[in-house]
Amino acid sequence: MGMHKKIYFCTNTKMYKGYQETLDYLMELKQLTEDIDWRDIELSVMIPYTTLYQGKQILQNSSILLGAQNMCWEQTGPYTGEISPLMLQELGVKSVLLGHSERRNLFGESDEKINRKVRSALAHEMVAFFSISDTEADKRKHQSDDILCKQLKIGLCGVEKEQVSKVRILYEPSWAIGEKGIFPTIDFIKARHVTIKKCLCELWGKEVAMQIPVIYGGSVCYENAWNLIRQENVDGLGIGRNAWDPKNFNRIIRMVLKNI
Ligand code: PGA
Repeated sequence: MGMHKKIYFCTNTKMYKGYQETLDYLMELKQLTEDIDWRDIELSVMIPYTTLYQGKQILQNSSILLGAQNMCWEQTGPYTGEISPLMLQELGVKSVLLGHSERRNLFGESDEKINRKVRSALAHEMVAFFSISDTEADKRKHQSDDILCKQLKIGLCGVEKEQVSKVRILYEPSWAIGEKGIFPTIDFIKARHVTIKKCLCELWGKEVAMQIPVIYGGSVCYENAWNLIRQENVDGLGIGRNAWDPKNFNRIIRMVLKNI
């Protein structure tokens, strides 16, 4: 194909893998991907808090980036049950997933709260995987674009131009995620990615905006990965179920890199 773009792969293991299972996963993924040319890709794995310390040791000499799945915006204080950016930094964790649709829809995270988290992550020089998503109802009412722009504008409010190199946008329609998820048409995905890029251009101007990777997630698999990544405005793939076996994840990565 002769396309030259850096590709952003990420996975989020959610609450599926326990301690040992996560460590085994990381070990195997590290081995399988060791010989990849890391100039071509960024590979991030979001794992549970309880596995981050040991996970970090395992990935010491690897280019795989470790991320948390959530974070509190405050540094310290009376926030029972929360994990702060300082706590993640202590473990050497430099990236974090924020605003996943499960956080929004099941745990009531508002755009405003997510914005605090995004700004806090960036202020602590972490890579922020900022997730945005439309619902099935949004899609039915043809409101997906409006919702995504709203989430982007509030979520990224106050983020400075100088900070955007650490921002990754993860677009995941909530109706496309998980076992019951329905993979959208490629035209739907293309249109949403155009909208997202336009919205980012409005925020920071074209030159800055076009540097921000926009990653698609939701029922990505071996069969549809190439058709997604070959689209101009799709910069990466967020893969859930089909990345939770390291062999499957590696197989998808290799196939994409071979075609690009
Ligand atoms: P899925 O999950 O690939 O299993 O649909 C996507 C996600 O929520 O990250």
